[in-house]
Amino acid sequence: MLIDNLSLYLEEKKFLKDLEEKSRSLKIPVISIETGAFLEFAVLLKKPKKLLEIGCGNGFSTYFLVKNLKICSSYTGIDLSKSRLFLAESFIRERFHGVEMEFISGNALDVIVDLDKKFDFVFIDAAKFEYPGYLEVILKKLNKGALIIADNIFYNGKIFSQTPLRHDKKSVKGIKEYLKMITSNNMITTELIDIGDGLAISIYGDGPDG
Ligand SMILES: C[S@@+](CC[C@H](N)C(=O)[O-])C[C@H]1O[C@@H](n2cnc3c(N)ncnc32)[C@H](O)[C@@H]1O
Repeated sequence: MLIDNLSLYLEEKKFLKDLEEKSRSLKIPVISIETGAFLEFAVLLKKPKKLLEIGCGNGFSTYFLVKNLKICSSYTGIDLSKSRLFLAESFIRERFHGVEMEFISGNALDVIVDLDKKFDFVFIDAAKFEYPGYLEVILKKLNKGALIIADNIFYNGKIFSQTPLRHDKKSVKGIKEYLKMITSNNMITTELIDIGDGLAISIYGDGPDG
């Protein structure tokens, strides 16, 4: 859709807004539309052949990730929740064709170890306390130059608090540990971007030892 069919942009805008609101009303957490637009753009530039999403939920973020994937690329989405994964798979398969897709239900920490592929784009948006664990398992499954984008790095501002609430402590600890890991790994360079709830954008194979 380009200049000839501007009404399609309006339709898409409304569709995404409705889906975002519906998800939030059903208490299904989803990324912000701004974060989605950023992911859409990142995929457009990076042109990944193999994309992995950890925590695809009901497929809202998946929409932005898959939208600009080239035909013959592949998408792998993982989520612990079978019901959310089912929603994601039916919605995304109906909308997008030509991209190879797999939707796997299970704990990403176990599932990724068994994947027989290397990725060049990974989006992380699952349990915050497990971010360090996801990084450990994906590091063995990355092509040089791979982009790793992690959401919720500012965790609604809680990451800046010296005294996070008790029920946020594990998540805050996980995010901080993840940030330490990506900034101390000599194979990785990272920038934090203040979009949505904060994104950590890392490039694997681009650090001092990359
Ligand atoms: C914030 S939601 C994802 C939202 C989704 N990315 C979106 O914006 O549409 C986090 C998801 O991670 C999933 N999750 C949590 N821990 C997980 C794990 N260890 N492995 C796979 N999925 C996990 C949850 O079931 C939940 O659907």
